[in-house]
Amino acid sequence: MKLSRKLQKLLSTDFFASAFEHLSRGTHPVNKQRIWETLDRAQFEKLREQYPYRPGSPRINRFEDVVYWIEINIERAQDLWLDRAPPMRIVDLGCGAGYFLYVCKYFGHDVLGFDTDNEALFRATTALLDVARVIGRIERQTPLPDLGAKFDLVTAHRICFHRIGRVRDGVEWSPADWEFFINDIRTRFLNENGRLLLDFNPRPDGSSFFTPRLREFFLSQGARIFRSKALLGVHPNQRPRFK
Ligand SMILES: C[S@@+](CC[C@H](N)C(=O)[O-])C[C@H]1O[C@@H](n2cnc3c(N)ncnc32)[C@H](O)[C@@H]1O
Repeated sequence: MKLSRKLQKLLSTDFFASAFEHLSRGTHPVNKQRIWETLDRAQFEKLREQYPYRPGSPRINRFEDVVYWIEINIERAQDLWLDRAPPMRIVDLGCGAGYFLYVCKYFGHDVLGFDTDNEALFRATTALLDVARVIGRIERQTPLPDLGAKFDLVTAHRICFHRIGRVRDGVEWSPADWEFFINDIRTRFLNENGRLLLDFNPRPDGSSFFTPRLREFFLSQGARIFRSKALLGVHPNQRPRFK
C-alpha cells in the first residue's frame, strides 16, 4: 500500500471510530477466559473432524475455533453495551454458528436465533451452545415468519440475506426492499423502545456497504450509521443509541 494511502487510512473517520470502540471496550473489560471456560472445548474440536474445512480456509470460516469466535462476539456485545444492560429479549437474524447469542445469554439476555438450515455445522454448533433457533428464510418483499414474541433488540451480523442470486453477480436488495424489511421488523418484532442493528460486510473491493445512495436511504429511515453498522429505532424520527 502506498504511504499516502496508508496515511489517508490512518487519518480516516473509520480509524478514529475504531479507536473509540477499542477505548470504550477497554473501560469496561470482560473476562473472556470465564466465558471460554463455560464451553466444552473438546466437543468443538470434534466438530473439525466431522466437518473438515477446506485447506487454507480463513479463520473466519473455522467455526469450531471457539476462542476466536467468542472474542469477536464479546466485542459485538460490548459495542451494544449488552455486558452491562438489564436483561433483554434478543433475536439474531442469520445467526450462523450461534456465538453472538451464546455471549448474550451469558450476559443474562433471553435469546433466539433465526436462520436457514442449509449449514449442518451451524446445526451442530447451535445445539452445542444450546441456542434455540427458528428455521426460515428472509426473502425480499416478504414478511418474516411469526417469531412468537416482540424483541428489545433485533440483530443481524455479516449480512448475506440481501444478496439476490450468486455473490459474484453483485445483485442486491434495493432501498425499497430494505424499506419493506425495516418496516416489517419495526411493526411486528420491535418492542416500544426496541432497536434493529444491521452489521454489513465490506464490499468485495473493501469499500463500505453504505454507498452514497444506501447511506442516504438508511439515514432517511432514522439510522445511526457507525462504521459497518446501521442502528434503527422503532420510528424513523427516533435516532437510537448503541448503549
Ligand atoms: C456470513 S454468515 C454470518 C453468520 C453470523 N451472523 C456471524 O456473523 O458470524 C451469514 C448467515 O446468514 C444466513 N443467511 C443467509 N441468507 C439467509 C436468508 N435469506 N435468510 C436467513 N438467513 C440467511 C446464513 O445461513 C448464515 O448463517
